[in-house]
Amino acid sequence: MQNFWQDLPRPFFALAPMEAVTDVVFRHVVAAAGKPDIFFTEFTNAASYFSEKGIESTRGRLAFTADEQPMVAQIWGNNPEHFAFMAKGLATQGFAGIDINTGCPDKSVIKQGSGSALIGDYELTAKLIAAAKEGGLPVSVKTRLGKFKIDEYREWLKFLLEQDIVNLTIHLRTRKEMSKVPAHYELITDIVKLRDEVAPQTLITINGDIKDRKHGEKLAQQYGVDGIMIGRGIFSNPFAFAKNEPGSDCSGQASRRVSNGAPAPVETRAADCPSQPDPGSVDKRQELLKLLNLHLDLFDKYSPELEPRRFDPLKRFFKIYVRDFAGASELRERLMHTKSTDEVRQLIN
Ligand SMILES: Cc1cc2nc3c(=O)[nH]c(=O)nc-3n(C[C@H](O)[C@H](O)[C@H](O)COP(=O)(O)O)c2cc1C
Repeated sequence: MQNFWQDLPRPFFALAPMEAVTDVVFRHVVAAAGKPDIFFTEFTNAASYFSEKGIESTRGRLAFTADEQPMVAQIWGNNPEHFAFMAKGLATQGFAGIDINTGCPDKSVIKQGSGSALIGDYELTAKLIAAAKEGGLPVSVKTRLGKFKIDEYREWLKFLLEQDIVNLTIHLRTRKEMSKVPAHYELITDIVKLRDEVAPQTLITINGDIKDRKHGEKLAQQYGVDGIMIGRGIFSNPFAFAKNEPGSDCSGQASRRVSNGAPAPVETRAADCPSQPDPGSVDKRQELLKLLNLHLDLFDKYSPELEPRRFDPLKRFFKIYVRDFAGASELRERLMHTKSTDEVRQLIN
């Protein structure tokens, strides 16, 4: 079995799967701003995939392009037969891995016995993981600490680690806590110890409230975890994965501008070394609006190529790019009344 997980840098950085957010368009924008080491699709229902119209109904959320590797399909459901069918299909579609969602707190998902409803259901979860492995792709799991009490993590994570999975991502909160309390970093040491005892071959990725690469690197160094997953951090800083923190190879953006004016060496201009501007500067506004323009262009490109997309949901992304500069809220307000990507371009340009 080809297992890309072993070849990832340590720590590796993952963009969290986020429903209605991390589609093929937004993932490309994030990659241009600062590339994560691994991508996940939005979660995709195995029952839908299994249905007669499965390929059509799941096409949008499973769409990805060749440059987005390693790409992991995140799946949810509660039927092993669906999981086995989907796992085999995903392997032929070029995915590098499969991730099983056992953490979603959404009521409609729980009602279907899926997502975080699986926490504590050892028998079914074991069957689902085994079924997902039938596709031949490396299988990982994303979960929460427990349903109601943080102490549940000892039994639950131990059980998951016993299933011989390649990576376990833990959103460091219970389902009940939603995202309302700080992530429980105080448990990481114990979780890593548990992993070392039960399944030293399984990688541990932590998730919850991690702001950016610098923050993630600090946590990885402190706790010895393998991977860092960032979700909402990308909303307040689309450059969250960029490597150009002071002292790193990419720190030269500012000095490039003030030095002798010669172009920077090509390698420091790679996608993971974008020009991360100073907060509050004119540069920052330009860089953010450049990303918005890219988002619009990719929306127009992938909509006809991969899956038709409605314009209105695009508006929820505006606040990521139109922020932290004079006149931002006024511009955002006007953007909310637009009806096409061209109208948006006219306003921002
Ligand atoms: C809008 C939104 C959609 C989400 N969709 C998914 C999903 O499809 N699958 C999943 O495993 N987690 C999903 N999550 C949870 C995130 O992946 C992540 O676990 C959570 O936001 C905590 O990480 P953060 O503090 O870095 O955001 C979603 C979160 C948000 C905010």
